[in-house]
Amino acid sequence: MSRLGEICDYRVGATQGELPREALLAGVCDADGLVCLLTDTIDREVIEAGSKLRVIANVAVGYNNIDVAAAHERGIFVTNTPGVLTEATADLTWALILAVTRRVVESDAFLRAGKFTGWDFDMLLGSGLTGKTLGVVGYGRIGRAVARRATGFGMAVIYCGRDDIAYRDDPQHNTLTVTRQAATGPLTQSARIDGLAARRVTFNQLLEHSDIISLHVPLAATTKHLINSAAFAKMKSSAYLINTARGPVIDEAALVRALQQGRIAGAALDVFEHEPAVTTPLLEMSNVILLPHIGSATRETRTAMAMLAVENAIDALTGRNPRNPVVP
Ligand code: DGY
Repeated sequence: MSRLGEICDYRVGATQGELPREALLAGVCDADGLVCLLTDTIDREVIEAGSKLRVIANVAVGYNNIDVAAAHERGIFVTNTPGVLTEATADLTWALILAVTRRVVESDAFLRAGKFTGWDFDMLLGSGLTGKTLGVVGYGRIGRAVARRATGFGMAVIYCGRDDIAYRDDPQHNTLTVTRQAATGPLTQSARIDGLAARRVTFNQLLEHSDIISLHVPLAATTKHLINSAAFAKMKSSAYLINTARGPVIDEAALVRALQQGRIAGAALDVFEHEPAVTTPLLEMSNVILLPHIGSATRETRTAMAMLAVENAIDALTGRNPRNPVVP
Protein backbone atom coordinates (compact mmCIF):
# COMPACT_ATOMS: atom_id res chain seq x y z
CA MET A 1 0.00 0.00 0.00
CA SER A 2 2.70 2.46 0.94
CA ARG A 3 4.61 1.76 -2.27
CA LEU A 4 1.45 2.35 -4.31
CA GLY A 5 0.79 5.52 -2.32
CA GLU A 6 4.12 6.91 -3.54
CA ILE A 7 2.75 7.26 -7.06
CA CYS A 8 -1.04 7.31 -6.91
CA ASP A 9 -4.16 7.43 -4.78
CA TYR A 10 -5.64 4.04 -4.12
CA ARG A 11 -8.81 2.52 -2.73
CA VAL A 12 -8.97 -0.89 -1.06
CA GLY A 13 -12.00 -2.91 -2.22
CA ALA A 14 -12.06 -5.51 0.53
CA THR A 15 -9.60 -5.96 3.37
CA GLN A 16 -10.64 -9.59 3.80
CA GLY A 17 -12.46 -12.18 1.70
CA GLU A 18 -13.92 -11.84 -1.74
CA LEU A 19 -14.77 -8.41 -3.16
CA PRO A 20 -18.51 -8.32 -3.97
CA ARG A 21 -19.22 -8.00 -7.69
CA GLU A 22 -21.12 -4.70 -7.32
CA ALA A 23 -18.23 -3.17 -5.39
CA LEU A 24 -15.79 -4.32 -8.07
CA LEU A 25 -17.91 -2.87 -10.89
CA ALA A 26 -18.41 0.41 -9.05
CA GLY A 27 -14.79 0.66 -7.91
CA VAL A 28 -13.26 0.08 -11.32
CA CYS A 29 -15.25 2.93 -12.97
CA ASP A 30 -12.80 5.74 -12.43
CA ALA A 31 -9.65 3.69 -11.78
CA ASP A 32 -6.51 3.85 -13.94
CA GLY A 33 -5.24 0.56 -12.59
CA LEU A 34 -6.57 -2.52 -10.84
CA VAL A 35 -4.62 -4.81 -8.51
CA CYS A 36 -6.71 -7.96 -8.09
CA LEU A 37 -6.71 -11.47 -6.68
CA LEU A 38 -7.41 -14.81 -8.34
CA THR A 39 -10.84 -14.80 -6.68
CA ASP A 40 -11.83 -11.63 -8.58
CA THR A 41 -13.50 -12.43 -11.89
CA ILE A 42 -12.30 -9.76 -14.28
CA ASP A 43 -14.51 -10.46 -17.26
CA ARG A 44 -15.57 -8.29 -20.21
CA GLU A 45 -18.23 -6.53 -18.13
CA VAL A 46 -15.70 -5.42 -15.52
CA ILE A 47 -13.20 -4.42 -18.20
CA GLU A 48 -15.82 -2.34 -20.02
CA ALA A 49 -16.87 -0.72 -16.75
CA GLY A 50 -13.25 0.31 -16.22
CA SER A 51 -13.05 2.63 -19.20
CA LYS A 52 -9.91 4.39 -17.87
CA LEU A 53 -8.03 1.21 -16.95
CA ARG A 54 -4.46 0.95 -18.16
CA VAL A 55 -3.40 -2.12 -16.21
CA ILE A 56 -4.88 -5.16 -14.48
CA ALA A 57 -2.24 -6.54 -12.13
CA ASN A 58 -3.13 -10.00 -10.84
CA VAL A 59 -1.55 -11.06 -7.55
CA ALA A 60 -1.04 -14.60 -8.84
CA VAL A 61 0.91 -16.39 -11.51
CA GLY A 62 -2.31 -17.91 -12.91
CA TYR A 63 -4.60 -15.48 -14.72
CA ASN A 64 -7.58 -17.61 -15.75
CA ASN A 65 -9.77 -15.22 -13.72
CA ILE A 66 -9.11 -12.46 -16.28
CA ASP A 67 -10.50 -12.12 -19.81
CA VAL A 68 -7.09 -11.31 -21.25
CA ALA A 69 -8.38 -10.97 -24.83
CA ALA A 70 -11.00 -8.40 -23.76
CA ALA A 71 -8.33 -6.42 -21.88
CA HIS A 72 -5.89 -6.48 -24.80
CA GLU A 73 -8.62 -5.38 -27.22
CA ARG A 74 -8.82 -2.20 -25.16
CA GLY A 75 -5.06 -1.80 -24.87
CA ILE A 76 -5.02 -2.67 -21.16
CA PHE A 77 -1.95 -4.46 -19.82
CA VAL A 78 -2.56 -7.66 -17.88
CA THR A 79 0.25 -8.72 -15.56
CA ASN A 80 0.95 -11.68 -13.25
CA THR A 81 3.54 -12.65 -10.64
CA PRO A 82 5.79 -15.40 -12.05
CA GLY A 83 8.99 -16.50 -10.33
CA VAL A 84 8.35 -15.36 -6.78
CA LEU A 85 6.08 -18.27 -5.84
CA THR A 86 7.94 -21.08 -7.60
CA GLU A 87 9.81 -22.52 -4.61
CA ALA A 88 6.92 -22.20 -2.14
CA THR A 89 4.57 -23.99 -4.52
CA ALA A 90 7.12 -26.71 -5.26
CA ASP A 91 7.67 -27.19 -1.52
CA LEU A 92 3.94 -27.59 -0.91
CA THR A 93 3.70 -30.04 -3.81
CA TRP A 94 6.31 -32.16 -2.07
CA ALA A 95 4.52 -31.81 1.26
CA LEU A 96 1.49 -33.32 -0.49
CA ILE A 97 3.49 -36.07 -2.20
CA LEU A 98 5.02 -37.16 1.09
CA ALA A 99 1.81 -36.76 3.06
CA VAL A 100 -0.33 -38.85 0.71
CA THR A 101 2.20 -41.62 0.08
CA ARG A 102 3.14 -41.96 3.77
CA ARG A 103 -0.43 -41.44 5.04
CA VAL A 104 0.63 -38.57 7.31
CA VAL A 105 -2.79 -36.92 7.74
CA GLU A 106 -4.51 -40.26 8.24
CA SER A 107 -1.90 -41.31 10.81
CA ASP A 108 -2.30 -38.06 12.72
CA ALA A 109 -6.09 -38.56 12.84
CA PHE A 110 -5.58 -42.18 13.92
CA LEU A 111 -3.47 -41.12 16.87
CA ARG A 112 -5.77 -38.25 17.90
CA ALA A 113 -8.71 -40.68 17.85
CA GLY A 114 -6.93 -42.70 20.54
CA LYS A 115 -6.27 -45.64 18.21
CA PHE A 116 -2.50 -45.77 18.78
CA THR A 117 -2.45 -48.40 21.50
CA GLY A 118 0.98 -49.78 20.65
CA TRP A 119 3.53 -50.04 17.83
CA ASP A 120 2.51 -52.52 15.18
CA PHE A 121 4.66 -53.93 12.38
CA ASP A 122 1.94 -53.56 9.73
CA MET A 123 0.37 -50.36 10.99
CA LEU A 124 -0.44 -47.64 8.41
CA LEU A 125 1.94 -48.86 5.73
CA GLY A 126 2.54 -46.36 2.97
CA SER A 127 4.30 -46.33 -0.34
CA GLY A 128 8.02 -45.53 -0.74
CA LEU A 129 9.40 -43.08 -3.29
CA THR A 130 12.96 -44.25 -3.95
CA GLY A 131 13.32 -45.79 -7.39
CA LYS A 132 9.81 -44.70 -8.41
CA THR A 133 8.90 -42.37 -11.27
CA LEU A 134 7.54 -38.85 -10.90
CA GLY A 135 5.51 -37.56 -13.86
CA VAL A 136 5.46 -33.78 -14.14
CA VAL A 137 2.63 -32.43 -16.29
CA GLY A 138 3.68 -28.94 -17.36
CA TYR A 139 7.39 -28.16 -17.31
CA GLY A 140 7.50 -24.46 -16.56
CA ARG A 141 9.14 -22.87 -13.53
CA ILE A 142 7.10 -24.73 -10.92
CA GLY A 143 7.15 -28.09 -12.73
CA ARG A 144 10.95 -27.89 -12.97
CA ALA A 145 11.29 -26.91 -9.30
CA VAL A 146 9.21 -29.95 -8.35
CA ALA A 147 11.35 -32.15 -10.62
CA ARG A 148 14.57 -30.80 -9.06
CA ARG A 149 13.43 -31.86 -5.61
CA ALA A 150 12.73 -35.40 -6.86
CA THR A 151 16.43 -36.11 -7.31
CA GLY A 152 16.85 -35.82 -3.53
CA PHE A 153 14.31 -38.61 -3.12
CA GLY A 154 15.99 -40.92 -5.63
CA MET A 155 13.15 -40.72 -8.13
CA ALA A 156 13.27 -40.80 -11.91
CA VAL A 157 11.46 -37.88 -13.55
CA ILE A 158 9.46 -37.85 -16.75
CA TYR A 159 7.59 -34.80 -17.99
CA CYS A 160 5.34 -33.30 -20.64
CA GLY A 161 5.73 -29.74 -21.84
CA ARG A 162 3.10 -27.37 -23.19
CA ASP A 163 3.20 -28.79 -26.75
CA ASP A 164 3.07 -32.40 -25.57
CA ILE A 165 -0.16 -31.51 -23.78
CA ALA A 166 -1.68 -29.32 -26.52
CA TYR A 167 -0.91 -31.92 -29.22
CA ARG A 168 -1.49 -34.98 -27.06
CA ASP A 169 -3.89 -36.49 -29.61
CA ASP A 170 -1.68 -35.73 -32.62
CA PRO A 171 0.05 -39.00 -33.69
CA GLN A 172 2.73 -37.11 -35.62
CA HIS A 173 3.77 -35.09 -32.57
CA ASN A 174 3.83 -38.20 -30.39
CA THR A 175 5.85 -40.19 -32.95
CA LEU A 176 8.48 -37.43 -32.96
CA THR A 177 8.78 -37.64 -29.18
CA VAL A 178 9.12 -41.41 -29.26
CA THR A 179 11.74 -41.19 -32.02
CA ARG A 180 13.75 -38.75 -29.92
CA GLN A 181 13.58 -41.17 -26.97
CA ALA A 182 14.99 -44.00 -29.07
CA ALA A 183 18.27 -42.06 -29.28
CA THR A 184 18.58 -41.69 -25.50
CA GLY A 185 17.73 -45.17 -24.21
CA PRO A 186 14.81 -46.79 -22.43
CA LEU A 187 12.17 -44.69 -20.71
CA THR A 188 13.10 -45.86 -17.25
CA GLN A 189 16.54 -44.29 -17.70
CA SER A 190 16.58 -40.54 -17.02
CA ALA A 191 18.32 -38.24 -19.48
CA ARG A 192 19.94 -34.98 -18.39
CA ILE A 193 17.93 -32.06 -19.69
CA ASP A 194 18.27 -28.51 -18.37
CA GLY A 195 20.76 -29.83 -15.81
CA LEU A 196 18.05 -32.13 -14.49
CA ALA A 197 17.79 -35.86 -14.85
CA ALA A 198 14.41 -35.79 -16.55
CA ARG A 199 12.96 -37.42 -19.64
CA ARG A 200 10.42 -35.83 -21.98
CA VAL A 201 7.60 -38.21 -22.87
CA THR A 202 4.20 -38.14 -24.54
CA PHE A 203 1.18 -37.44 -22.37
CA ASN A 204 0.01 -41.06 -22.61
CA GLN A 205 3.46 -42.38 -21.70
CA LEU A 206 3.48 -40.11 -18.67
CA LEU A 207 0.10 -41.42 -17.53
CA GLU A 208 1.18 -45.04 -18.03
CA HIS A 209 4.64 -44.91 -16.44
CA SER A 210 4.30 -42.52 -13.48
CA ASP A 211 3.97 -43.56 -9.85
CA ILE A 212 3.25 -39.96 -8.87
CA ILE A 213 1.61 -37.54 -11.32
CA SER A 214 1.92 -33.87 -10.43
CA LEU A 215 0.04 -31.16 -12.35
CA HIS A 216 1.67 -27.82 -13.16
CA VAL A 217 -0.22 -26.47 -16.15
CA PRO A 218 -2.18 -23.23 -16.36
CA LEU A 219 -5.94 -23.53 -16.77
CA ALA A 220 -6.82 -23.02 -20.45
CA ALA A 221 -9.09 -24.57 -23.06
CA THR A 222 -6.42 -27.21 -23.77
CA THR A 223 -6.00 -28.18 -20.12
CA LYS A 224 -9.57 -28.11 -18.77
CA HIS A 225 -10.40 -31.71 -17.73
CA LEU A 226 -6.99 -32.84 -18.99
CA ILE A 227 -7.24 -35.51 -16.30
CA ASN A 228 -10.53 -37.22 -17.15
CA SER A 229 -11.80 -40.80 -17.04
CA ALA A 230 -9.78 -41.72 -20.15
CA ALA A 231 -6.63 -40.45 -18.39
CA PHE A 232 -7.42 -42.34 -15.17
CA ALA A 233 -7.89 -45.53 -17.21
CA LYS A 234 -4.25 -45.26 -18.37
CA MET A 235 -2.73 -44.68 -14.92
CA LYS A 236 -1.21 -47.38 -12.71
CA SER A 237 -3.59 -48.52 -9.98
CA SER A 238 -0.76 -47.72 -7.54
CA ALA A 239 -0.40 -44.13 -8.81
CA TYR A 240 -1.03 -40.96 -6.79
CA LEU A 241 -2.33 -37.74 -8.36
CA ILE A 242 -1.20 -34.35 -7.01
CA ASN A 243 -2.74 -31.01 -8.03
CA THR A 244 -1.33 -27.65 -6.99
CA ALA A 245 -2.22 -25.97 -10.32
CA ARG A 246 -5.91 -25.24 -10.98
CA GLY A 247 -8.90 -27.37 -9.98
CA PRO A 248 -10.66 -27.66 -13.35
CA VAL A 249 -7.58 -29.37 -14.85
CA ILE A 250 -9.07 -32.47 -13.20
CA ASP A 251 -12.59 -33.70 -13.94
CA GLU A 252 -13.46 -34.02 -10.25
CA ALA A 253 -16.42 -36.39 -10.83
CA ALA A 254 -14.09 -38.69 -12.79
CA LEU A 255 -11.54 -38.48 -9.96
CA VAL A 256 -14.16 -39.56 -7.44
CA ARG A 257 -15.09 -42.55 -9.64
CA ALA A 258 -11.41 -43.47 -10.14
CA LEU A 259 -10.81 -43.44 -6.38
CA GLN A 260 -14.00 -45.35 -5.60
CA GLN A 261 -13.09 -48.03 -8.15
CA GLY A 262 -9.45 -48.25 -6.98
CA ARG A 263 -8.22 -47.07 -10.40
CA ILE A 264 -5.55 -45.03 -8.57
CA ALA A 265 -4.11 -45.27 -5.05
CA GLY A 266 -4.79 -41.75 -3.83
CA ALA A 267 -4.84 -38.03 -4.51
CA ALA A 268 -3.63 -34.84 -2.87
CA LEU A 269 -5.31 -31.61 -3.94
CA ASP A 270 -4.65 -27.97 -3.14
CA VAL A 271 -7.19 -26.72 -5.71
CA PHE A 272 -10.70 -27.77 -6.72
CA GLU A 273 -12.90 -27.74 -9.78
CA HIS A 274 -15.63 -25.70 -8.08
CA GLU A 275 -13.46 -23.95 -5.52
CA PRO A 276 -14.09 -23.31 -2.67
CA ALA A 277 -16.61 -26.21 -2.88
CA VAL A 278 -15.17 -29.72 -2.74
CA THR A 279 -16.95 -32.68 -4.35
CA THR A 280 -18.46 -34.31 -1.25
CA PRO A 281 -17.24 -37.93 -1.52
CA LEU A 282 -13.63 -36.67 -1.48
CA LEU A 283 -14.17 -35.42 2.07
CA GLU A 284 -14.83 -38.97 3.24
CA MET A 285 -11.79 -40.62 1.65
CA SER A 286 -8.77 -41.39 3.81
CA ASN A 287 -6.45 -41.75 0.79
CA VAL A 288 -7.16 -38.17 -0.26
CA ILE A 289 -5.56 -35.02 1.15
CA LEU A 290 -7.37 -31.72 0.72
CA LEU A 291 -5.84 -28.28 1.28
CA PRO A 292 -7.46 -24.83 0.89
CA HIS A 293 -5.31 -23.49 -2.02
CA ILE A 294 -2.23 -22.67 0.06
CA GLY A 295 0.47 -23.50 -2.51
CA SER A 296 2.11 -20.08 -2.28
CA ALA A 297 1.00 -19.29 1.27
CA THR A 298 4.21 -18.37 3.03
CA ARG A 299 4.64 -14.88 4.47
CA GLU A 300 7.72 -14.33 2.33
CA THR A 301 6.06 -15.44 -0.89
CA ARG A 302 2.75 -13.64 -0.43
CA THR A 303 4.65 -10.43 0.36
CA ALA A 304 6.78 -10.87 -2.76
CA MET A 305 3.67 -11.53 -4.88
CA ALA A 306 1.92 -8.40 -3.59
CA MET A 307 5.02 -6.27 -4.14
CA LEU A 308 5.53 -7.61 -7.66
CA ALA A 309 1.90 -6.94 -8.61
CA VAL A 310 2.23 -3.38 -7.30
CA GLU A 311 5.46 -2.81 -9.25
CA ASN A 312 3.74 -4.10 -12.39
CA ALA A 313 0.87 -1.66 -11.83
CA ILE A 314 3.32 1.18 -11.20
CA ASP A 315 5.26 0.34 -14.37
CA ALA A 316 2.12 0.74 -16.46
CA LEU A 317 0.81 3.79 -14.60
CA THR A 318 4.12 5.60 -15.05
CA GLY A 319 4.22 4.93 -18.78
CA ARG A 320 6.61 2.00 -18.85
CA ASN A 321 6.06 -1.54 -20.11
CA PRO A 322 5.24 -3.73 -17.10
CA ARG A 323 7.91 -6.25 -16.12
CA ASN A 324 5.53 -9.25 -16.17
CA PRO A 325 3.05 -8.73 -18.99
CA VAL A 326 0.75 -11.60 -19.89
CA VAL A 327 1.31 -12.02 -23.60
CA PRO A 328 -1.52 -13.08 -25.94
C1 DGY B 1 -1.24 -18.54 -8.32
O1 DGY B 1 -0.41 -17.65 -8.12
O2 DGY B 1 -1.75 -18.70 -9.43
C2 DGY B 1 -1.59 -19.45 -7.18
O3 DGY B 1 -2.66 -20.26 -7.44
C3 DGY B 1 -1.79 -18.67 -5.90
O4 DGY B 1 -0.54 -18.40 -5.46
